Amino acid sequence: MTNELTLKRGDRLCIATHNPGKLAEFKDLFAPFGLDLVSAGELGLPEPEETGTTFVENARLKAHAAAKASGLISLSDDSGLCVEALNGDPGVYTADWAGVPRNFDLAMQRVEDLLQEAGATEPANRRASFNATLCLAHPDGRDRLFVGSAEGTMIWPPRGKLGFGYDPAFIPDGHDRTFGEMPAEEKHSWTPGREGLSHRARSFALFAEACCEL
Ligand code: IMP
Repeated sequence: MTNELTLKRGDRLCIATHNPGKLAEFKDLFAPFGLDLVSAGELGLPEPEETGTTFVENARLKAHAAAKASGLISLSDDSGLCVEALNGDPGVYTADWAGVPRNFDLAMQRVEDLLQEAGATEPANRRASFNATLCLAHPDGRDRLFVGSAEGTMIWPPRGKLGFGYDPAFIPDGHDRTFGEMPAEEKHSWTPGREGLSHRARSFALFAEACCEL
C-alpha cells in the first residue's frame, strides 16, 4: 500500500478540531484549494482525550479518531508553546494550562509567574517557540505528518486582542508586535511559494505542497 494521500478540488476533508481559533485559521489557509471542509466539532464527533506525550502522538490520535468516526480523510493539528527557560513547558500541555473552561489570561499569567521565578526577565532568557504538527489520516489507517514552528520571545504584559490562546504574549522573531496584535492574514497567511509566519502556516505549507492540488 502506498502512502500517497492527496486531495483535489471538491474533496471532502474533516478538520479534526473543536477549537474555533484553529478552525478559522484552517479555513483561511485552505481557501485556495476549493475543498469541502467540515470540522469534527460541526460533525458532533466526540473530542478524543489527548493522552500522548508528544505533539506527534496527539496529532495522530486526533486525526485517526476523526477519520474513523467520520469515514473522511481528516487533518488534525497538535500545537503548543514551548518556553526554553521552562524546559519546554507548557509543550503538549499548552491547552491544559488554561484549565476548564479555558482561561488563557490565567495560562499566560502562569507562564509569566514561572518565568519570573526562574529570573527570566531579559528578552534573551525568554525565548520560546510555537509548534504545530499536522497529521493527515485516511480512514484505512494511513497517515502523513508535517511539522512547523515559529521562534520568538515571551513578553509581559500581553498585548493585542486578535488571534487566540497565548498570542498576546508572544512576539515572533523579526517583528515588534505580538501575534495578538497582528491581523489574521499577517499571522498565518500562506500562499503557494511563500512560507508564512506562524507555526500553523509553516506546517500547512509543507502539507499543501505534498498533498493538495491547486
Ligand atoms: P491542542 O493542539 O488542541 O492540544 O491545543 C494547543 C493549544 O496551544 C491551544 O489551545 C492554544 O492555547 C495554544 N496554541 C496553539 N496554536 C496557537 C496559536 O497560534 N496562538 C496561540 N496559542 C496557540
